[in-house]
Amino acid sequence: MEDSRSARAALGVELARSAGEIARRWFDTSALAVEHKQDGSPVTQADREIEQHIRNAVSEHFPDDGFLGEEFDETIGTSQYRWIVDPIDGTKSFVHGVPLYANLIALQEDNDIVFGVINIPNADVLMHAERGKGCWKNGTQVHVSDRTELDGAYVMATWLEDWHPDVIVDLHAAGAVLRTWGDAYGYMMVACGQAEAIVDYTTQAYDLAPMPVIIEEAGGRFTTLDGARDFDGGNGIASNGTVHDSVLKIVNQG
Ligand code: IPD
Ligand code: CA
Ligand code: CA
Repeated sequence: MEDSRSARAALGVELARSAGEIARRWFDTSALAVEHKQDGSPVTQADREIEQHIRNAVSEHFPDDGFLGEEFDETIGTSQYRWIVDPIDGTKSFVHGVPLYANLIALQEDNDIVFGVINIPNADVLMHAERGKGCWKNGTQVHVSDRTELDGAYVMATWLEDWHPDVIVDLHAAGAVLRTWGDAYGYMMVACGQAEAIVDYTTQAYDLAPMPVIIEEAGGRFTTLDGARDFDGGNGIASNGTVHDSVLKIVNQG
C-alpha cells in the first residue's frame, strides 16, 4: 500500500509542476479570456486546461482511481484512492495579475488525505507532504511557528466579505496582525512558520483537500470552524496548533 501511495505522490508532485507551467503561460497575458460561472466566480481556459491535463495523466497511470476536480464532473473510482484537484486556487488573483494563486492536488486513501501539494508557480514554491514523511518546501523540511500567543500572531483571510466585523475587531484587540495573503498561499505560510493561522468561512472540498496532510505533517492543526478534522465541512482553519483554540473562540462568536 505504501508503494502505491508513494508512486501516486510522485506523480502528484510532477503534475503540480506541469500545472504550474501551463498556468504561467496564461498568467498576465491579454489572451486570457475570463468567463463567469453561475455563482459569479471567474473561470478561464487555464483552469480547464490544467484540470484536463491532470485528469488525463491520472487516468493513464491509475485508471481505477476516483477523481474530483473543480471544473468537471466527478469520476467515481473502484480503487481505494481518490484524487482531489483545484487546478487554479485563487482564480481571482490569477485573473487580476496577482502572483499568489496556486495549483492544488490531494490524494485521499479510504477516508484519509495521505498526500497533498501546493504549487505556487509565480513564486517558485512547491510544498508537498505525504503522511508520516514530513512537509517539504522546495526540498527543505518545514515546520509551523512556535508562537503561543495571539498577540503578534499573523492571522490570514482570503476575503473579508463573509467575516463578521466583530471577529476582525476582536482579533485585532487580541494583538493579532491581520492580512489577506489568502487562498492556498496562506496555508503554505502557516505550514512553514511564516504566519500562525488562516481562516476560511466558505470553501469546497477541492479548496482545502491538501491542507490536513500539509498542515499536520508540518506540526500544526487543521479543522473546520466547529473543530472537526474535516476538509469537506464548508469552511476551515489552519494554525500552528498552539493558537488554534484562541482563534476558534473568536471566530465562532461572530
Ligand atoms: C477560492 C479559494 C478561497 C475560498 C473561496 C474559493 P477558487 O477558490 O479556495 O480560499 O475562500 O471560497 O472560491 O475559486 O479561486 O479556486
Ligand atoms: Ca479554490
Ligand atoms: Ca479553482
